[in-house]
Amino acid sequence: MALARFGVSLEEEVLRALDHFVIENSFPNRSRAIRHLIEKNLVEEKWQSNELVAGAVVLLYDHHKGDVTNKANHLQHHYADVILSSQHFHLSHDNCMEIIAVKGHAARLTELSDKLIGLKGVIHGQLIMSKTE
Ligand code: NI
Repeated sequence: MALARFGVSLEEEVLRALDHFVIENSFPNRSRAIRHLIEKNLVEEKWQSNELVAGAVVLLYDHHKGDVTNKANHLQHHYADVILSSQHFHLSHDNCMEIIAVKGHAARLTELSDKLIGLKGVIHGQLIMSKTE
């Protein structure tokens, strides 16, 4: 894609914050950092507008707690239409991590994510929001 250039005027303080952001996140330059922030905003808009999006649900749970393994599995069967794949990692004697790649309308993905993360026995869960194109 062809690149277009434009001038940006910022207060000194905001420019310092941008440069700090560039360094903290290991961006090679300000352009990459600004691009990242714009993409982040576009993705958020897509999720808020219930567009077709993609992402991943990361779950950490203790498989001894309650019936979490079966319940997580049962839920995933109910949402098979939006699940691309899932990976299960036996992290330690007690803990499992699952990464569930999803694609579909944002509201349905958020619904699945909320249900999974809300299961009793889940230690940590996060929905990673991305987009399809
Ligand atoms: Ni496991």
